[in-house]
Amino acid sequence: MPGSSHGWKRDIPLGFSGGIRFPADGSRWAWQGGVSLMSSFEWNKVIASVLTALIVAMVAGILSNMLVEPRPLQKPVFLVAGAPATSAPAEQAAAAPKLEPIAPLLAKADAKKGEEDTRVCQVCHNFTKGGANKIGPDLWGIVGSPIAEGHDNFAFSSALEAHKGQKWDPELLNQWLDNPQTFAPGTKMTFAGIPKAQERADVIKYLEGLK
Ligand code: HEC
Repeated sequence: MPGSSHGWKRDIPLGFSGGIRFPADGSRWAWQGGVSLMSSFEWNKVIASVLTALIVAMVAGILSNMLVEPRPLQKPVFLVAGAPATSAPAEQAAAAPKLEPIAPLLAKADAKKGEEDTRVCQVCHNFTKGGANKIGPDLWGIVGSPIAEGHDNFAFSSALEAHKGQKWDPELLNQWLDNPQTFAPGTKMTFAGIPKAQERADVIKYLEGLK
């Protein structure tokens, strides 16, 4: 009896461990109580491998984008009948960004500050009545006067003369003073412009007072 008892104790654990490690019929999980063990451990592995696959795919995507720079087509390859061939209006809009209207800024502009801001202009311009032309024309009474005309026959560039027929109102002065080369490409006024809108308004306010 002790012998068979000993044999029983030894036999059962052996059969047990064999059942866990080497399932012959593929029913390992069901046999061990199934779903609960599957979800606590094996699901983690499944989820981890799915996530790993996603991350690898993402990193591969980013790397390949860095290696091969996708270049957008400059022209559409297939021209659809009736469709515009290029996006010209969009390109023009990007080239000449619209300035904010000057009128609201002019309403709170400071002529005194404007006068100080015109110190940079005085290398090339007088601002006095009957003042002589320098590198640029005298600017007395410039607001409301015709563009590129008069001033004792100042030799204006053809770039600015292209605007002949227009008058210097605050809005045009705003565009001109923001960037002379944008307003009149090729102008003789080699001045980078006043980037700050309120500063331009101050200058225009000062110019308005010169009459
Ligand atoms: C480096 C010299 C220079 C500076 C600095 C300069 N200008 Fe001029 N300006 C010119 C020249 C040259 C012209 C004539 C442009 C042309 O014919 O293309 C001109 C033209 C103008 C005109 C048009 C005159 C007209 O009768 O149509 C205005 C307005 C003007 N300048 C304002 C200014 C103001 C305001 C500043 C300062 C914020 C300034 N300029 C700074 C040289 C200069």
